Amino acid sequence: MSENKKTFYITTPIYYPSGNMTIGHTYTTVAADTMTRFRKLQGYDTYFLTGTDEHGQKIEKKAAEAGVTPIAYVDKIVAETKELWKLMDIQYDDFIRTTEERHIKVVQKIFRQFYEQGDIYKAEYEGMYCTPCESFWTPTQLVEKDGVKVCPDCGRPCQPMKEESYFFRMSKYQDWLIDYIENHPDFIQPAKRANEMLTNFLRPGLQDLCVSRTSVKWGIPVDFDEKHTVYVWIDALSNYITALGYSTEHDELFRKYWPADIHLVGKEIVRFHTIYWPIMLHALGLPLPKQVFGHGWLLFGADRMSKSKGNVVYPGPIVARYGVDPLRYYLMREMPFGADGNYTNESFLVRMNADLANDLGNLVSRTVAMIEKYFDGVLPAWTDATDKELDAPLKEHCAALPTLVNEQMDKLQFSQALAEIWKVIGECNKYIDLTQPWVLGKDPEKRDRLANVMLTLAECVRFAAVLIGPFMPSTPDRIYQQLGVTDDSLKSWDSLKTFGLLPAGTRVCKGDALFPRIDVNRELEALSGGKEAGAESGAGKKQPEKEQKAEKKHEEPEYPEEVSIDDFFKCKLQVGRVLACEKVEKSNKLLKFRLSFGKDGERTILSGIAKYYTPEELVGRQVVAITNLAPRKIAGIESQGMILSALDSEDNLTLVGVHADTEDGAIIG
Ligand code: ME8
Ligand code: MG
Repeated sequence: MSENKKTFYITTPIYYPSGNMTIGHTYTTVAADTMTRFRKLQGYDTYFLTGTDEHGQKIEKKAAEAGVTPIAYVDKIVAETKELWKLMDIQYDDFIRTTEERHIKVVQKIFRQFYEQGDIYKAEYEGMYCTPCESFWTPTQLVEKDGVKVCPDCGRPCQPMKEESYFFRMSKYQDWLIDYIENHPDFIQPAKRANEMLTNFLRPGLQDLCVSRTSVKWGIPVDFDEKHTVYVWIDALSNYITALGYSTEHDELFRKYWPADIHLVGKEIVRFHTIYWPIMLHALGLPLPKQVFGHGWLLFGADRMSKSKGNVVYPGPIVARYGVDPLRYYLMREMPFGADGNYTNESFLVRMNADLANDLGNLVSRTVAMIEKYFDGVLPAWTDATDKELDAPLKEHCAALPTLVNEQMDKLQFSQALAEIWKVIGECNKYIDLTQPWVLGKDPEKRDRLANVMLTLAECVRFAAVLIGPFMPSTPDRIYQQLGVTDDSLKSWDSLKTFGLLPAGTRVCKGDALFPRIDVNRELEALSGGKEAGAESGAGKKQPEKEQKAEKKHEEPEYPEEVSIDDFFKCKLQVGRVLACEKVEKSNKLLKFRLSFGKDGERTILSGIAKYYTPEELVGRQVVAITNLAPRKIAGIESQGMILSALDSEDNLTLVGVHADTEDGAIIG
């Protein structure tokens, strides 16, 4: 049987491990995971690939700044990325790293094949280069800002650069690709992105693509010309097939899963996935992925969050406070897949209350509570006492729900799929109001009617539980537990073909609220301590106050001759881990830290060290802080402690740290 299962292969971009993964990377990864889980539920044989894109100048530079080798640098971030995916309940089948031998060998082979076929040739390259983005731009692609030609992607200045390079003859395949895109309307989604590609890049004519560098050492060597390394996109894009063992003795996965069903990518890299990648595949004689879906950006204020810009929201603190499922739900529900949207703490908290605590949570708790109250917690059997006007529409709607959800999921419309489920949940809550079980419960003659009302509700809850599983992986089990569903066949996609399968005699079991109601204002206040747990939101924002002197500590204080050991021990010194760090607006001195002290919780601390460190390089590091210092306001933000550092006579500042990774919150003394 299982050989006949339909396969489903989905990928995320392989992310740059130049810094820790943000809520933006989490967005794509959760979407891919949700889609995979949905197809798996439907019985597909699924394969979900993610990974990291580890070569290039930027990583080389980051590593040098951190004083470690590139591989040591990325190893650490990869380990943290895998931890994050575990935290987010991501079930990938493989995590490919472009520094792995299995990838390198095949990329070298592919590059050589292109060269031998005449798709790649050697020439001199001259252009404007953006180092942070690792991109060459033609003069027409650059944009002007304050009289300077800057990178169209990041807005930073570019430098002229000349070097010998290999080039891929993209122009040779352009007509074929135009034809392919025009004849495969599903290939690029959303459709408007196909038009962008045709109008902006393909029809005007493709330039040949620079595919090697001599100046970048941290890359895959071109094996027939060792002073060159393979440049970015051939290396990165190939991951989708090298991970499957393409062109090796063990290519079973490749034969089974290629072509991919979906490459999920952010809209900024649609061009690479729908122009260069198809051309590469075609040159290799391989079929193209069935679909490239370019989703929108999760914005933070007006800007796209990005590691290189440092305006970032990290999921860790949000998950620590509210759990994984609410965040996964929010990411998939808040904005239509394809469009941009803003992350704000407020919209997250409001959704948690409205959709999860109120709509879903209440339905489950009311249903279970009523079955306990009216039927001693045991599901009765169906009776003849139906009310056609009230029961039939709800039953029919619920029975149609799997199809409605599937239609949306086929289009990757996660938000709409959830909206369909929530329509039924809303209808159930209305059904309770209309059937008035509390009235029926008072009249012994209405017991048969009450039985059907309870069964209808319980069955709708079961449907909802099965269908939300791909979005919120740990919530269904909590619902099944309350509903008394133990039989796995009642948790399956197939079980949704029939409405009314919950057997009489099932014993429900009231549990904790699925999603406790939260006080939005209080939570906003708690979260506004740091951007790391969300964007600025009106309610949580404080008026900036006059910047107080943040840093008295580097003016040599007058020390007493001696202090008692008791006095010394009054200071609580603890190891804290930097969860997030950012520049404080309107201050060029201050960095705002969100620190974890393990079981002692988190705090926000400001420190006047912006000129010595960039925020990105500090995230993940352990520092030492005084945590019982009286809180004080700096630049309108309450600083709850002080981070220790050493300043030498030449104005070099080094943070005080611990010599080996230790427990967050460990006491120093
Ligand atoms: O581009 N909103 O890696 P990258 C939405 N290595 N999605 C976001 C996002 C945001 N604010 N921030 C990141 C690269 N993403 C290359 C890819 S693929 C062969 C090579 C997601 O670390 C989104 O999927 O810059 C985006 O395309 C990707 O992360 C960029 O990750
Ligand atoms: Mg990028």
